[in-house]
Amino acid sequence: MSQVGTTEVIDGIGILTIDYPPVNALSVHTRKALDEGFRQFAADDSVKAIVLICAGRTFVAGADISEFGKAPEGPNLLEVFDIIESGSKPVVAAIHGTALGGGYELALVCHYRIAVPSAKVGLPEVALGLLPGAGGTQRLPRIVGIPAALDLITGGAPVPAKKALSLGMIDALAEEGKLRDDAIAFARTVVAEGGQLLRVRDRQDKVEPYRGQSEIYADYLKKNARAFRGFKAPFNIVKAIEAAAELPFDQGIARERELFQELLTSTESAAQRYYFFAEREGAKVPDLPKDTAALPVKSVGVIGAGTMGGGITMNFLNAGIPVTLVEMSQAALDRGVGVIRKNYENTAAKGRMTAEQVEQRMALITPLLGLEALNNVDLVIEAVFEEMGIKKDVFGKLDGIAKPGAILASNTSFLDLDEIASATSRPASVIGLHFFSPANVMRLLEIVRGAKTSDAVLATALKIAKTIAKVPVVSRVGPGFIANRVMAPRSYAASALVLEGPTPQDIDKALFDYGFAMGPFAMSDLVGLDVIGRGSNERTLNGDLVKLGRLGQKQNGGFYDYDEKRQPSPSPVAAQVIADFAKAKGVENKGPQSAEAIVARLLYPVVNEGAKVLEEGVAIRASDIDVACILGYNWPVYTGGPMFWADTVGLPKVVEGLRAMGIEPAKLLVDKAAAGGSFTRG
Ligand code: 3HC
Ligand code: NAI
Repeated sequence: MSQVGTTEVIDGIGILTIDYPPVNALSVHTRKALDEGFRQFAADDSVKAIVLICAGRTFVAGADISEFGKAPEGPNLLEVFDIIESGSKPVVAAIHGTALGGGYELALVCHYRIAVPSAKVGLPEVALGLLPGAGGTQRLPRIVGIPAALDLITGGAPVPAKKALSLGMIDALAEEGKLRDDAIAFARTVVAEGGQLLRVRDRQDKVEPYRGQSEIYADYLKKNARAFRGFKAPFNIVKAIEAAAELPFDQGIARERELFQELLTSTESAAQRYYFFAEREGAKVPDLPKDTAALPVKSVGVIGAGTMGGGITMNFLNAGIPVTLVEMSQAALDRGVGVIRKNYENTAAKGRMTAEQVEQRMALITPLLGLEALNNVDLVIEAVFEEMGIKKDVFGKLDGIAKPGAILASNTSFLDLDEIASATSRPASVIGLHFFSPANVMRLLEIVRGAKTSDAVLATALKIAKTIAKVPVVSRVGPGFIANRVMAPRSYAASALVLEGPTPQDIDKALFDYGFAMGPFAMSDLVGLDVIGRGSNERTLNGDLVKLGRLGQKQNGGFYDYDEKRQPSPSPVAAQVIADFAKAKGVENKGPQSAEAIVARLLYPVVNEGAKVLEEGVAIRASDIDVACILGYNWPVYTGGPMFWADTVGLPKVVEGLRAMGIEPAKLLVDKAAAGGSFTRG
């Protein structure tokens, strides 16, 4: 037996334990262990039934994603599955942690599934740009029916054990902590009752009623058009599920294979699989010693109960960590706490929280006036106005108030963290925790490491990110850190390009079709042109529209006109303002441009800024830039983010494109292009 699998037989029940840390993925080693283990039990007459269980934190978490695209080795997954399902001895899958993707497909070829209440099961392949390629699209519909299968597989969310039981995705719940014993007892009962082999593949009752109804799939795609836009996987998933209703099992499996292979070789899936690992890389800081102990954070103080302070506070309340929230006036404090309550109540009204949970979270806030209230918290996060003078004043005072060892964090978007830290006598305790708005929703957390930030403080920030379910990306100090900085050139390019011929709608459509939720002009109208231009003394295009009373969606339209349902249409007034502005600036109208040219004009400069951020050591790795743009700016994940995308475009082409725009490419970009290198591959 390989080291990954261990077998034992207890009173006629064969137990195969898989142990392949960290998540028992179906690597060649795991497949071998399954193959050997099941063959061994098949040949052992003393074994009447089999329990398949895993060691460590979880049941099998899926295929080994790192093996995709490599030459297949060892036993084939489908053949191993066939040995299990077609065997003559009942098999019980005993599930703890997560049975996901190929892991849940493994459970589906077992004849019974039992799980502890804390377990989750599901088919999340869609997030990797894939479909369940080991029978999941054919077996799950046979258990839950077509409509539920469509939602479960295109949605990909893991299903908690209790719900899974009610859907039939598992057959029984085990007692928490007693999975092994309960699974053995379950197997014994199966044997005692005749050893029935329940094979999901043989079931017809749940799919038969849907046969011949092709409109189900067309309607489903139409209903979800917005969510599926740009992705490939949901479309293939729907086709595969249709095959489950229409075709005999073996043909359905063949169709699933075909559709899976198509996805596996797509750029979209390559990008999404890259992104899966990129998200996890962010927490790894090469020069941070692995054994650096994090400081305990049992209480938090937040300064400023405005837009950001409120959202930041909610993250900690959600994690059960008490927050002292500090403001300048009672009115501001009341307003801030009121917004938090309202947010929770809205969630409760949607049924996603109970009234009791709302009160439990609210009870964790201590709203107070004055920084003195922060004398005993472990971590302070400052979210006051974005002005160096105010921030330094706050940090200077905090220095005299906070207990020794407390972490002093700033949520500044653009200011120099080292200068803020210099207002204290303990710059080693100062760090940037840059949340994105709305802070309780957006998953990105830029952790800004100051010149003097200590390792322990950085390690603590990384741990906090995990505690509050954020994806961390570490940045050095620099204007705009990572996401805001690299995305800024997109806005500049849009403002320049609109003077040269392409209309706001041409530019917005090109970016929308690329995969952004909306283009820059639609976005400006949504945010408000008065808000965007605030603080600038120069004559700007936004400013000219504002002078005419055009503030965007909220007043008189902006770059677009809007009807009473806020539907946009091209604005002749805006077109005239743009033409006048271009004339005043001496910019010649060169007429329309192709979507490809528009995308290059707006996004190559982002890649270039990304290269500079890397060159300067502000970001640790290219994938951190991609994660920051995808999570911070909704950059379409199926392109992999700006740096991965640049690699797919080809770096020499990006360099040439930038030069044609009159932009000097970053040295790193030029060097990589010349050397045939890439940002994200190898
Ligand atoms: N293959 C390879 N490595 C994997 C993996 C997988 N399926 N799942 C997780 N890992 C790695 C992670 O990269 C990470 O490595 P690191 O420590 O070096 O960074 C390590 O395992 C731990 O993962 P997490 O940090 O994500 O651990 P958590 O405890 O937070 O989460 C989990 C565990 C819920 C299992 C989560 O890892 C997860 O969602 N994994 C992916 C599940 C998935 O998508 N499965 C489907 C795979 S595709 C498939 O099965 C195709 C099939 O249909 C043919
Ligand atoms: P805001 O104006 O909504 O809130 C700031 C709050 O701080 C106000 O309620 C104000 O009363 C309070 N305040 C000011 N000085 C104070 C003091 N000395 N003591 C206690 N309270 C004080 O501002 P917002 O948008 O929440 O921004 C806060 C910080 O977060 C800024 O540094 C900003 O750059 C940053 N940020 C903002 C983002 C956004 O999208 N709004 C995104 C990421 C960071």
